[in-house]
Amino acid sequence: MLKQLKRLSLSLLLPLMAALTLSFAMPSMANESAAAKSAEKEMTQLAGADIWREVRAGQEGYTTSQWPEHGVLISTAGETWFVLKEKWMSPLGALAIFGSLVMVTLAYFVVGPLKLSKPKTGRKIKRWSRMDRALHWSMAFSFLTLAFSGLCLVYGKHFLKPILPSEIWGMIIYAAKQYHNYMGPIFFILLMCVLLKWWRKSIFNKTDIQWFMKMGGMVGKHKGSHPSAGFSNGGEKAIYWLLIVFGIVVAFSGFVLDFPMFGQLRRDMELSNLVHMLSALILICGFIFHIYIGLFGMEAGLDGMVTGDVDETWAKEHHDLWYHEVKDLPENQPQDKKVD
Ligand code: HEM
Repeated sequence: MLKQLKRLSLSLLLPLMAALTLSFAMPSMANESAAAKSAEKEMTQLAGADIWREVRAGQEGYTTSQWPEHGVLISTAGETWFVLKEKWMSPLGALAIFGSLVMVTLAYFVVGPLKLSKPKTGRKIKRWSRMDRALHWSMAFSFLTLAFSGLCLVYGKHFLKPILPSEIWGMIIYAAKQYHNYMGPIFFILLMCVLLKWWRKSIFNKTDIQWFMKMGGMVGKHKGSHPSAGFSNGGEKAIYWLLIVFGIVVAFSGFVLDFPMFGQLRRDMELSNLVHMLSALILICGFIFHIYIGLFGMEAGLDGMVTGDVDETWAKEHHDLWYHEVKDLPENQPQDKKVD
């Protein structure tokens, strides 16, 4: 009897307790699901089309950062920069570089290199000092390596990325960026040395007009006519000032990008990026012609920049006015020749 009573009380008590527990739990569960629903709604609204439309339109939001423009998640003017850089400047730049390479190749095969008209005499004329040569080759090294790393940053994703394992590509592009950042200021210092050392002999004069009118004696009916020139001819002066002007522009726009801690806004960075790229492309194309003439386009032209001396025949034919100025200097007399 006692056992039966116990069983009955248990069978009544258990559902009662369950009912009580549920009745206490129900409101909190209901609250939780309401909270979850409202959070979900909030999330949906946050990621909703309206919000994103505003973000995409450049709408400023709220942030605790005090830096200008930090509240703007998407910069609409940045889209214009992106289009100008990726859709215009990058392909046109590639075309310009390719075009310059095609032109020097044609110049070599169609016009042919500029040969000396008379045989070399063997008498050496001092042209470039050890300091000049060190400056030239350091400048050439910094310029060429900056050009390669810069081109890798712009075009690498089209040509290298697809063919390299991603770790290798990552290492290359990281190294290119770091190298470019640190070599840029060194290029600028060398450029200033080139400006201080060679500006005087690079000032244009009347002789250069004649030189340009005869196209440097390099093409067409003027080929081999050897127009008069002083230490530098019109073409060398032009390439020198191209280097100075666009070199300064490329260096300053590079500094704006290299040191973004002087309050530059995104607009300033975008503009600097476009100016930097355009001036670098102009320099690269210009120096394709300079390098072509130095290496292949002119017989005996490279000797001066390698050894410091040029042959008398080369001096007479390409820089006659300078030759007459310096031919009687003691350093240019065969017996006084000393190694520099
Ligand atoms: C392989 C690459 C290069 C070669 C073979 C080369 C060759 C030469 C040669 C032979 C000269 C002397 C011309 C003369 O005696 O009249 C010269 C001058 C010069 N080079 Fe280069 N060069 C190269 C790269 C560069 C680069 C990359 C730059 C600058 C970014 C540069 C800037 C200059 C300047 C400013 C002069 C002096 C022009 C003058 O006033 O006469 N060169 N180069």
